[in-house]
Amino acid sequence: MKTTIPRISKSLLLWYAENKRVLPWRANKNPYFIWISEIMLQQTTVTAVVPYFDRFIATFPTVEILAAAPQEKVLEMWAGLGYYSRARNLHQTAQQIAKTGFPKTAKELIQLKGFGPYTSHAVASIAFDEAVGVLDGNVIRILSRLFSIPSKWWASKDKGELQSLAHLMAQSGPPSEVNQAMMELGATVCTTHKPLCVRCPWVKDCQALKLDIIEKLPLSKPKRRHEFWIWQPELQLQKNQVAFVKNHGAPILKKMILFPGSWKKSIQKPKKFDFSHSITHHKIYVQIQKVRSVKKRDDYLWVQLNEVRQHNPSSLIEKTLNHLAKS
Ligand code: ADE
Repeated sequence: MKTTIPRISKSLLLWYAENKRVLPWRANKNPYFIWISEIMLQQTTVTAVVPYFDRFIATFPTVEILAAAPQEKVLEMWAGLGYYSRARNLHQTAQQIAKTGFPKTAKELIQLKGFGPYTSHAVASIAFDEAVGVLDGNVIRILSRLFSIPSKWWASKDKGELQSLAHLMAQSGPPSEVNQAMMELGATVCTTHKPLCVRCPWVKDCQALKLDIIEKLPLSKPKRRHEFWIWQPELQLQKNQVAFVKNHGAPILKKMILFPGSWKKSIQKPKKFDFSHSITHHKIYVQIQKVRSVKKRDDYLWVQLNEVRQHNPSSLIEKTLNHLAKS
């Protein structure tokens, strides 16, 4: 059987109509909701995102309200999702959109801070039905398997080829539906491990299934090596307040304040540490320093313990404070 785009597009759309999940950002075509959901979905699964999305939208129901909110409040609503630079970019971009209105094309969207090819294509197609293909991990997986493409999708040339295929798909039917259907198929059926091929609308067309190489595709991106870091935070407490300083020296959470204390790169895991925490490819071993007397320094920022999350919502800080409370 010859696989043709119009035919696989038709079977995909029929499958999607029957199987799509009811999600809060799918209730209407509000571009603001779609944008927020797409940024949140870049780092975690749909199931994990839904409660964050609902809370975020309940607090900031429009782009204008988000634009006018203090940054601390935005970071607090993002707490737990990680990648806090995304929340800061989102806030800045909301301020621009509040002034100029929501751009409607991928070409204009990509000019905005925090909008790469993926986000601009997702918002332009889902909210405004522009025929641009989305290429995320799900789409890379389903297309590499369907056409049995052993692509180095992380390299720009090969990525370009998959992007062209995704564009053809988006042009084969209503772009909003086709793109969401491709992502949905990858997220719920054509999963990385143990895909549910019996439930797949493309079961008869899938080249990788025919060749029995489903789990070999897509190829795995070579992993970045882990870096080990030792952090010795000094927890200085005074009247329900704790001292923070601007981050200098830490390889992560670059624009955030942190507890004072040294950061050292290490070639190995230290023998003793209180706990470890991973952020991207950084493995951080935390050795909490008990401070007997509080230092007086001009660069310290004293933060109320119950407001720490508003200043640094990362779980590294939360874990450090919890550890101290337990010891
Ligand atoms: N993952 C990222 N965006 C998605 C969407 N719009 N639908 C399903 N899965 C997604």
